[in-house]
Formats: sequence, structure tokens, C-alpha cells
Amino acid sequence: MSAAETLEQIAREVSACTKCSLHESRKKAVTGEGPADAEVMFIGEGPGFHENEQGRPFVGASGKFLDQLLEQAGLLRGEVFIANVVKCRPPGNRDPQPDELEMCNQYLEAQISAINPSVIITLGRISMSRYFAGAKITSIHGQMQNIGGRFIIPMYHPAAALHQPALRPSMLADFAKLPDQLNEARAALGRKPVERKTIAVVQDDKPQQLSLF
Ligand code: URA
Ligand code: SF4
Repeated sequence: MSAAETLEQIAREVSACTKCSLHESRKKAVTGEGPADAEVMFIGEGPGFHENEQGRPFVGASGKFLDQLLEQAGLLRGEVFIANVVKCRPPGNRDPQPDELEMCNQYLEAQISAINPSVIITLGRISMSRYFAGAKITSIHGQMQNIGGRFIIPMYHPAAALHQPALRPSMLADFAKLPDQLNEARAALGRKPVERKTIAVVQDDKPQQLSLF
């Protein structure tokens, strides 16, 4: 089976899945989307209100900021794969519970194996803890590490910037480092470097809250 066929098969299984109680309140499962040969894979937390309505990842307010972050890295949404640790919306956007994470993990693992991305970016604390148990996101965000043969970069969740505008410059700076990190990972994996694109400098036009630091 090709990687694309495997991803389609996973999507079919997810939309019929009843392995955890999150299926009870879901409208549409959000399996994830992007090309099967994506170089960069994002792992978010789980569908929110709009994602549950549309069945697509990051289509609400945090998705808008994710698009801006991608632009900062010279990436288009259509060339990256975006998945979540749970595929069905936790009611009221609560944190996914350990049993739900455990039940849903096989789908994410199968997606990672099929795509075999050069770099995985975790968005937020919960997806970070898959690879960095007990770590503090404030100390390790933006730093790439090889974990069991995969290159992982923990990043803040885009929604964090909506609650804490002072984090925006730091998040934009983390994404600006991504092209170089991707090439570093590709070199280590014996893959050819990706040709450097001209990076669009994003005008951060939102009013900034003054940082205290
Ligand atoms: N937040 C997430 O973590 N994932 C989504 O798909 C949307 C919002
Ligand atoms: Fe299945 Fe994952 Fe949805 Fe739970 S969250 S029902 S494990 S697809």
C-alpha cells in the first residue's frame, strides 16, 4: 500500500472509530490533512468547535495564526501535514485525558510511519509530552532534538498567542528558524537539503502587549 493509501485507510478507520468516549459527542472526526510525502508534520492537540463542524484541522482562530507562522517559515499549508493527538473533539475543549490519548495513539503512530517526515513539530504542552515527558515548554520551545531517530521541535500552541500576545514574537522567531532546522535534519537523515526559499517577512500588525522581560 502506498503512503497515500495508508493515510486514506487511517481516515476511514478514524471516522468510524468508537474506541474512546470522545466519539459520542463528535460531529466530524478530524483525521488530519496534508500530502503523504510531507517533509514537515505538525501535531496539535485536538479538534475545537470549528474543526468538529468541518472535519479539518486548525480552521478556527488558532489556524489563522498557524498560517501566519507557516508563512514565517516559508511554508504553505498545502505542503505540510497537520494532525492531532486526538481525532475527536474533547467536549468544551477540555484537555484530552490519558486514556483517550492512549486509545488514539495508534492512528497518529500509523500516520507518522506512513509519512516519515524529516521533522515533527509538536504544538503545545500535550503533544510535546509525547516526546519530552515532564519538560517545560518555556525552556525547550524551538529547539530541535533527535528522539529515537526522529527530529522533533516542540513549539508553543498557536492558541497560546491568542491568550498571551507577548508570546507572539517568540513564536514567530521559532518558526523563522525552521528552514535551517529542516535542512539540518535532512542532512542527518541522508536526504538532500531543501532549496532555500525567500522567506516572507510577516508584518506582525496585531497590537503587541508589552513584554515584561
Ligand atoms: N487546536 C488544535 O490543537 N488542533 C486543531 O486541529 C485545532 C485547534
Ligand atoms: Fe477513536 Fe481517537 Fe476518536 Fe477516540 S478520539 S473515538 S480513539 S478516533
